[in-house]
Amino acid sequence: MASQLLAKKPLNVIMAEASDTSEHSLKRSLGPVNLITLGIGAIIGAGIFVLTGTAAAQFAGPAIVLSFVVAGIGCIFAGLCYAEFASMIPISGSAYTYGYATMGEIIAWIIGWALVLEYAFGAATVAVGWSGYVTGFLRFFGVTIPFNPTPKGHITLFGTTFPVQCDIFAMAAIIIITIILVIGVRESANFNSTAVIVKVSVVIIFIGLAVDFAFGHWSHMTANWHPFIPANLGHFGQFGWSGIMRGAGVVFFSYIGFDAVSTAAQESRNPQKDMPFGILGSLIICTILYIIVAGLLTGLKPYGALNTPAPVADGAATIGVQWGVFLVDIGAIAGLASVMLVMLLGQSRVLYTMSHDGLLPPWVGRIHRRFRTPYITSIVVGCFVAFLAAFFNIVFLAKLVSLGTLLAFTIVCLSVWVMRVKQPDIPRPFRTPWVPVIPILGMIVSLALMLSLDAPAWIVFGCWLVFGLIIYFSYSRKHSTVQMESAAQSRPKAIR
Ligand code: ALA
Repeated sequence: MASQLLAKKPLNVIMAEASDTSEHSLKRSLGPVNLITLGIGAIIGAGIFVLTGTAAAQFAGPAIVLSFVVAGIGCIFAGLCYAEFASMIPISGSAYTYGYATMGEIIAWIIGWALVLEYAFGAATVAVGWSGYVTGFLRFFGVTIPFNPTPKGHITLFGTTFPVQCDIFAMAAIIIITIILVIGVRESANFNSTAVIVKVSVVIIFIGLAVDFAFGHWSHMTANWHPFIPANLGHFGQFGWSGIMRGAGVVFFSYIGFDAVSTAAQESRNPQKDMPFGILGSLIICTILYIIVAGLLTGLKPYGALNTPAPVADGAATIGVQWGVFLVDIGAIAGLASVMLVMLLGQSRVLYTMSHDGLLPPWVGRIHRRFRTPYITSIVVGCFVAFLAAFFNIVFLAKLVSLGTLLAFTIVCLSVWVMRVKQPDIPRPFRTPWVPVIPILGMIVSLALMLSLDAPAWIVFGCWLVFGLIIYFSYSRKHSTVQMESAAQSRPKAIR
């Protein structure tokens, strides 16, 4: 029984599948710059455009900069581990596949299930951020919506209060992206490249404007930076050092996406060399941009005033340059749309791979005859994500996404170490330095960030994992192709 749960997918089978898939599609077209662009496309989104302000206002104050440093360091440790795997096992499926090869089926299932949470809840989080910027953009042009697009409230379940709302724009965004994904993704790749250029340019322009403002208004900036670490308000996570940690747990969301580079391993021309470059390159560029933006934003406005749906646009408004506000809105709207697209696309890749392994029913991986897309999954997931985007608060969703992703990171770090001990001779084009120190540090930072998040997020995360295990034990275990093959091999040959 235990051995079945820990059944591993042999590396040679995984590699054979990788080369088999590549015969049937365009594949192997991405070079190092494309991979960095893909990473940045998935990384820069609601985290920097919305959560920086919210987390500064609620948890860390100007020290949100330190939260970005802590979360960034944790991601670089995890990124180094991802880079080793992505160059060693260059196949889509990402952490789920690495877990299947090293830790066994049940752990692979948990990672896959956590990735579903990351991408589904992540797309919903970004949709809520997108809605805030669209509302601001319409207001910029004097368009007032005749109804409240985001009425807010609370519900209490299991004695815990959860913030809820009804966000019509967020729901509409997910429905539109789902339709695009069902019809085909060819155009969406071009859209993604354009969106990346727009959002990176906008972030750089914002930095330029804010630095220029800072030189002329240094006392304004320093007044807002003081106190840099506001005193704790008596509860864990409300400012002080625990607030920095909780802020890091929330803004960790901003870094999510570099792992999406590893899902493109099968489309990379030279995955052995380019995967580490794409993963670490996009991560380092975004870490630097984030720390600068967070520092400038908390200088432009008092941190207490940053808890708004579009804090970076509000920061640009403080500078007093109207075209700056306009550009930030455009950058956020285009940029966040591309993140939703990449996340929902990543979602279908993970579910497709799990269905291919027999862990989910065949209809999950069914491809539309004309559109060549996994349409059923896209529609079912789209409806679920639209529901989440409509009714849940952005910080709450982001915390859940961070929990799911951090769990996947922890297991990937552990897997790198396990693989070095168990299979030391496999060729590793990229080697994580100082194993096991880096994987252990990656696990420690990831677990610390998970523990910094609050009870409501943990309760929903726990329910999600229990729900996943129910599916595993009632369906996946009985239909797993790896288990069926190993059972067939161990059955005695028929006696003639
Ligand atoms: N890192 C992505 C974002 O911030 C998910 O939107």
